[in-house]
Parts: sequence; C-alpha cells; structure tokens
Amino acid sequence: MEARVTAHSRFAVAEIDPRLYGSFLEHLGRAVYTGIYEPDHPEADSEGMRRDVIELVRELDTPICRYPGGNFVSAYDWEDGIGPKDQRPTRLDLAWRTSESNQVGIHEYADWAEKAGTEMMLAINLGSRGLDHARNFVEYVNHPGGSQWSELRKQNGRAEPWGVKVWCLGNEMDGPWQIGHKSAAEYGHLANETAKALRAFDKSLELVVCGSSHSNMPSYPQWEATVLEATYDQVDYISLHMYFENYEENTAEYLALSEKLDRYIGTVSGVIDYVKAKRRSTREVKISFDEWNVWYHERKNDAKRMEEWDWPHAPALLEDIYNMEDVLQVGCILNTFIRRSDVVRMACIAQLVNVIAPIMTAPGGPAWRQTIFHPFKFASTLGRGTALRLDVECPTYDADVAAGVPWLDIAGVHDGDEGSVTFFAINRHGSETLETALSLEGFGAAQSVEHQIIRHDDLEAKNTQDNPQNVAPQEGDGATLAEGGLTLTLPPLSYSVVRVRL
Ligand code: AHR
Repeated sequence: MEARVTAHSRFAVAEIDPRLYGSFLEHLGRAVYTGIYEPDHPEADSEGMRRDVIELVRELDTPICRYPGGNFVSAYDWEDGIGPKDQRPTRLDLAWRTSESNQVGIHEYADWAEKAGTEMMLAINLGSRGLDHARNFVEYVNHPGGSQWSELRKQNGRAEPWGVKVWCLGNEMDGPWQIGHKSAAEYGHLANETAKALRAFDKSLELVVCGSSHSNMPSYPQWEATVLEATYDQVDYISLHMYFENYEENTAEYLALSEKLDRYIGTVSGVIDYVKAKRRSTREVKISFDEWNVWYHERKNDAKRMEEWDWPHAPALLEDIYNMEDVLQVGCILNTFIRRSDVVRMACIAQLVNVIAPIMTAPGGPAWRQTIFHPFKFASTLGRGTALRLDVECPTYDADVAAGVPWLDIAGVHDGDEGSVTFFAINRHGSETLETALSLEGFGAAQSVEHQIIRHDDLEAKNTQDNPQNVAPQEGDGATLAEGGLTLTLPPLSYSVVRVRL
C-alpha cells in the first residue's frame, strides 16, 4: 500500500507547549504508596521516595504533573497531609473505597516533583468543599509569608512558596460518580466565584475549569457551553478527559478511536469559539486534556473487587498491563494532540506510576517500563518545537466510530533550533506495509535520517517484571533519504519515529 506525505516548513499548526506531555499522579491504588513513595525500599532516599522511579520519570521528561486527583480530590482535605507525619489522620477515601494514611501530602509531593524534574499542577476540591478551601490552599502553597496559611507552611518546614502556576477547579464535576457532583449551572457559578477569589490573590495563575469527563456523557457538549458562559472571563483552559478501550478486540476499530478524540477536540474548540463570540471577548481559552490513556484491561475486575473490599490502604487498583496494540493507540493519541496543538496546549497521560501507567513497580522490587512508556517518551523528548500541518494522501477505511480513517497516522514536528524534523508514524493496517514517499519542502537539505521502530509479532505482547524489554524500540532500516525528501517503509501494525537532521 502506498502513501504520500508533504511537509513544508511554512505550514505550521503551532509552537507546541511542552506541557502537552504532562502526566498525572493520584492518591489511588499504588500510585503514591509503593509507587513513588516506599520508605522501606532499598532504593528509597532520605524522604522515602524511590530513586529508581524518579529516574524513570526523569527519562520520560514530563514537564508538569497533575496531583492529587482525579476522583480522590473531590473529598480530599489537603490539611490532613501537612504537619508531623505521626499526627496525620487516616481517612476513608470515598472515591476508591480505600484508606488514606496521608503520609504523603503537599510537602512530600512538592519535594518529589522537584527531584523528578516536573512542575506541579494542583487540583482543588470543589466537590465536598469550595471557595474557602481553595483560597486557603493557594495561600499555603504560593504566599511568601506573614499570613496564617503561609506561616503554617513555614512552620511545617518550607520557607519559600512553591509558586504553583496551574490550578484545576475541581475534577470531572459533570460525573454523577463524583463526590459533590453538580449541575453545569451550579458548577459554573462555583468555579467562577472560586476563580475570581484566586485571581484576587494572583492574576497570573493559570486556571483550568472542568469540561466533560468524556464525549459520551449525556450532558456533553452543553456542559461546556454552560460552564464556559459562566466562567469565560476568569479561566484559561477547559479540561477534557478520554479513556480508550478495546473490549471488542477489534484492532482497526480500536485504532480509529483517535478520530473520535479529534472530533471531541474540534467540537469543544467550536464551543469555546461560540462562547467567545457570544461574550464579544478577545480572551483565549484553550484545552487542557488532563486525563487520557488506554484503560480497560482490568477495569471490570477492579469495579467488582472495589465493591467487596474493606477499605484497604494502597491496594493494587487500575493496574492495566499494556501490550503492543496499546503502543499503537498511544502513538495515535499523541499524534492527535500534536496535530491539534494550537488548541490543546496541555495534556496529561493518566496516570504516571502503577495506576494505568507507563511505569510499574513491585513493592520491595524493581521498577520497569510498560510498553506505552516508549511512544510517550519519544513524543515527550522529540516532539518539541513547531507542529507541522502535513498533507497526507493515503488509503482509508470506514470504522463504526468514523469514516475515512487513514491507514497511516502521522504527525511531524520541526525543531528549528536543533535543525531537525521528526515524524511519528503508525501503520494501522493489519497486513499491508505502507510504502510512504515523504517530501520535505522549505527546510533546506536533509543531512541524515534515523529510524526507530516498535513492533512485535504478537499484538498482545507485554512488558513484565520478568520480561521488561519484551516490547521496546529498535533501530529500524525503513527510512532512506531520497530526492527532495524520504522514503519510509512502515510494516503492518508498527510504530515509527523518523528523525531527519537538516
Ligand atoms: O484516572 C482514573 C480516574 O479517571 C480519575 O480519578 C478520574 O478523574 C477519572 O474518571
């Protein structure tokens, strides 16, 4: 099968905000306890943080990390996680029916984030609590001193404010499962008043208001319109979430889901424009896609186990083990974000460690890379610069979720400072190789090309503690410099990164 792709240096989508490659850590399952924090582990540092996990997070180079939830945040009292550890209360977490020991709170997370080389994105509880909780938390975290909450932070050992820029106004408030769920009008009013109070403290904060939990929600997309009409003058981003599943075990359908993602982004972008026009506003509101990933492998089992258990502390939960097929899916999702990077400015893979995550740990044992670690790392480290608007001619297929899905999914990024163009390419076809002619215009002469490929004969192949390298990138030989560009040979169901030095 043949495809033609044209890239031109002047056909640009946007400068990518590096926060497109953000991540997410929730007090859920073993994400925090025995994930990032395990004081008895041989790799633990003096604060109990696992050094082996920090190293893997640094390797992923994720510039921002959302915390502490997720559903967890909607009944979370941040004050439980400050002060002497032996005096912190154990609470019931109603979202996941577990116990929360509060041994990790904002101080521990902030120290960890610094070590892991990531900026904090903090979520506020607008479920069981509201404006007062929000303003006190922001004062605690960001005010230099001389006030009740900032002085308490100092007493608790942190003299300097952390200066956190990005704040999420609640989590998935459209979801009936959420503690303190609200109607769009109720939430819009609360979010706007909270945002006004936070802006009175610091105008430069970047505020994220909740959009839909996914595009199948009955309230979507009216939710976005109502919430934005209430908050447009105060917020900078609207948050969207989407999880990808393949219960039908149909690879072509599964890999077409990124088209649904694209439509979701397009629709919400339209709603933003509608509200902007209606309000005669010049303000720019963008999308923070702050939860996305494959999530289905353990989902039904987990729901059943949760119903039966007796409030355990840090049980294994949402521990999806990813396979080769998920590499392709994650590649298509990241490509969609790159192609939409004019409107999707931030995005967070959900989550980072153990819970639907690229990094897994064994308590007392090693940490390893899940299959999806690799496409995420490629995009995060090489997908920085200017996103290109590619012209793609390629055979397509019709899926239930979308018609005209191209067998080739490709995104390109030009890094002018480094002098490179990088392409991320997925061949969605189950049996045909994609012979692709890629023409490069306006970039100057190409000097060299490198190809890395991820493929496996078994789409179900996974990385485990005993076999952590089963699915991993290898050097490919499918990219050749040609007159005016490149030729690419992309095997069936493969993920490729092609880097051209200019
Ligand atoms: O990431 C897992 C959960 O998915 C989050 O807690 C919630 O926000 C979403 O429904």
